[in-house]
Amino acid sequence: MNHKILLTGGAGYIGSHTIIELDKAGYEVVVVDNLYNSKPEALRRVSQIIGKEVPFIEADIRDREAMEAVFNQYDIFAVINFAGLKAVGESVAKPLEYYENNMNGVFVLCDVMRKHGCKNFIFSSSATVYGDPAIIPITEECPKGQCTNPYGWTKSMLEQVLIDIQKADPEWNVVLLRYFNPIGAHESGLIGENPNGIPNNLMPYITQTAIGMRKELGVFGDDYDTPDGTGVRDYIHVVDLAAGHVCALKAIHEKKGLAIYNLGTGHGYSVLDVVHAFEKANGLKVPYVIKPRRPGDIATCYCNPAKAKEELGWEAKFGIEEMCRDSWNFQKNNPNGYEEN
Ligand code: NAD
Ligand code: UFG
Repeated sequence: MNHKILLTGGAGYIGSHTIIELDKAGYEVVVVDNLYNSKPEALRRVSQIIGKEVPFIEADIRDREAMEAVFNQYDIFAVINFAGLKAVGESVAKPLEYYENNMNGVFVLCDVMRKHGCKNFIFSSSATVYGDPAIIPITEECPKGQCTNPYGWTKSMLEQVLIDIQKADPEWNVVLLRYFNPIGAHESGLIGENPNGIPNNLMPYITQTAIGMRKELGVFGDDYDTPDGTGVRDYIHVVDLAAGHVCALKAIHEKKGLAIYNLGTGHGYSVLDVVHAFEKANGLKVPYVIKPRRPGDIATCYCNPAKAKEELGWEAKFGIEEMCRDSWNFQKNNPNGYEEN
């Protein structure tokens, strides 16, 4: 295959795992990332795993000149856009930065793409666009809801922008992938999630507690309308999620127009289910304490992944045990993330 796949934000958590799955499927990639939330070391380790260099351009997708140069240098068949800011709490404090980065990034990228005749776009969207979901398990027909933070709104609004771009010019193929809660890491333990500072998300908080960096996990609320009172989510192994992008790309080769898919396992696990699964999978104890609810959180969020199975032939292979095992494997091999250990 001569055409390359451009992964913007490809040095990040999901992007780095996706390079490996694309490589396995015979695709050649190019990565653009401004390294705002990632380290070149992640790409070095991906190279080690796949046994070849990963072409990398350090650039911001809002930098039109830099993006023009990428499209001039490479024959790009499709773009998978992972690039974006994603910290929910930070987006509440810095709405302008979030809207500017996430929205403007996609505007510049799509404009440069169309100039170069590249009209295949896969977008990292999120279950957050469903707000407090009207239907459980969530199907793609479930109406979008009210987001509770600017980060979520960037996803929701960008979906609409991309839908309109595709409607105006049906030559575009736009695939919106609504991720549920990615956790886990590559089985090698070489790459994984490497958050800066105190983690916002559940699994990195659990692994950092297990390794002794945090005293105890705070469980945000035990009075939700769920079986044990704690929040229920659809956790998905990041390697399964990465494989979902390969299936979406294959579908684009056969012309897709506009398509929207939930990428989740279809199983809901509570916070305490995850804590207990982690303890069992790794033979460890995770001290926790019940805290008040976190503002903006919903009780239950899990999907019906049937559409992705039917149309893309994709389904998640890994269960919660493997997710917990691989998250811990990365943490224990890399106590300081991608910094010198
Ligand atoms: P990540 O922060 O690890 O990766 C995103 C990458 O984009 C980072 O390497 C960052 O440096 C880069 N980036 C940000 N702004 C950029 C810009 N303007 N130009 C170039 N590079 C830029 O995040 P992730 O967890 O891998 O998520 C990837 C995508 O999936 C994001 O768009 C995120 O919003 C979305 N998503 C993530 C989750 C999740 O829970 N991790 C859930 C749903 C959706
Ligand atoms: N939780 C805790 N303690 C923590 C962290 C989380 O109890 O320290 C709980 C939350 O209250 C929630 C569950 O664990 O019930 C999962 O929380 P996360 O922060 O890991 O994930 P969210 O479902 O809140 O949100 C994540 C991403 C969003 C994305 C969404 C859907 O952060 O960006 O999944 O994909 F939109």
